[in-house]
This record gives sequence, structure tokens and C-alpha cells, in this order.
Amino acid sequence: MNNLISCKDISASYDGMNVLNNLTFSVNEGDYLCIVGENGSGKSTLVKCLLGIKKIDSGNIIMGEGLSQTDIGYLPQQTQLQKGFPATVKEVVLSGCLNSRGYYPFYTSKEKKSADESMQKLGIFDLKLRSYRELSGGQQQRVLLARALCATKKLILLDEPVTALDPLASAELYSVISELNQKYKIAVIMISHDIQNSVENASHVLHLKKTGYFFGTSNEYLKSEIGSRFI
Ligand SMILES: Nc1ncnc2c1ncn2[C@@H]1O[C@H](COP(=O)(O)OP(=O)(O)O)[C@@H](O)[C@H]1O
Ligand SMILES: [Mg+2]
Repeated sequence: MNNLISCKDISASYDGMNVLNNLTFSVNEGDYLCIVGENGSGKSTLVKCLLGIKKIDSGNIIMGEGLSQTDIGYLPQQTQLQKGFPATVKEVVLSGCLNSRGYYPFYTSKEKKSADESMQKLGIFDLKLRSYRELSGGQQQRVLLARALCATKKLILLDEPVTALDPLASAELYSVISELNQKYKIAVIMISHDIQNSVENASHVLHLKKTGYFFGTSNEYLKSEIGSRFI
């Protein structure tokens, strides 16, 4: 199994306040890792470290062969501003390609093809010319997922993707994410508040706490002391 990301003993802090303490875990090809933990436990900080936006104080983050931090398809937590974004679905998805080649205002035919494929995988191809801001919350998240997919064939990183969705739309999004993982073999790292659902879908769990953490397979998590307390 090929390793995509390997974190060894990483620590991070803000102004001397430790947030991540000696964290060790890895993500391999095909894995689906869920990151859970209460507010303030450092989930978003960890994501920023993985994306290279935040510097770690010590330890190592080793990216697998052929993967760089800009090859990670990232779906940030949605803001109100993004919900009203005045662009077509196609434009939003295509903008996901920008990450990999710097600032250049025209898209290549290869990028357009990749955007079409991403939309097909997520079942939104017929929404291509629709206005993004007129879509439902669940459709918007699929568009942003297709956008993230444009940046990568290997790994997507999702920060609380279902938070603003109703239960039905959440269930649909979870199933699309599982399909990307299982059918298209894309590794997934997802931050979630919903431990129950996460463990059902994920292959691995990273549970962050103010002191200590758990990392292991979902099965190991269910049997662990911390896992059995939360499920
Ligand atoms: N930019 C920042 N400057 C200072 N402290 C921060 C910053 N971002 C987060 N923190 C603090 O770091 C801790 C972890 O935050 P965060 O990673 O956002 O946790 P989570 O995503 O799990 O809610 C919190 O105590 C938070 O207040
Ligand atoms: Mg957060």
C-alpha cells in the first residue's frame, strides 16, 4: 500500500500555546480517515499544517512519492459569502485547477476535460451551466467537491462538509464521498462532528483531545476506551 501522508511526532502552537502535541499517524492510498474531536481540539490547525498553511514546531510531515501539498483537493468549511458566489457551476469547478499551475487566466482543454469528469463523477454534469448561488446546499457541496477533485486524483481533504445540510442532503453527500473513495480509489481525509456516521464510513479515525489522541482503524476505535465512550 502506497503511503500518501505520514506525520511523525508533529507539534504546533500559537504564540507559545500548544495545540498539537507529538501527533503520529499516516494516510495510505485508498484510506478514508475521519478526524474528530471537540471544538478547539486542533482539527483545523492540523488541516492547515497538512496543507502547508501553518508551520509545525517539530516533527515531520512526509508526503508520498509524487504528491505535493498543492495536489491535495481541499474543500474548506463553507462561508455565507461562498453561498452567494455569482458564477456558473462550470466556472466554480474549473477554478479548482488554478491551484496546480499558478496564475494564468485561461484554461487548457485538459483542464476542461478534467472538470467535466469531476462533474460526472459527482452527478452534477447537467447542472453545468446553472448559477451556483441558485443551487440547494447539497448541490453546492457537490460542486465544491467536484472543484476539489479537479486539483487531485489522489487525496481530498474536507472540513466539516455536511455541517449546514439537512439529514437527507447529509446522507447523500456521505454516500458520494464513500463512492469517490471506493469506486475511484481517492483517499479521503474528513473533519466531522458526526462521530457515529464518520466511523461507519471511514477506514481510520483520528480523535484529537486537549490531552492525548487516538489513531487507528475504525474497528480499533470502536473497541478503544475513547471510542466506546463516544459511540
Ligand atoms: N490563528 C490562531 N491564533 C491563535 N489561536 C488560534 C488560532 N487558530 C486557532 N487557535 C486556537 O487553537 C486551538 C485549536 O483551534 P482549531 O484548530 O481551530 O480547533 P478545532 O478546529 O478542532 O475547533 C483553539 O484553542 C483555538 O482558539
Ligand atoms: Mg475547526
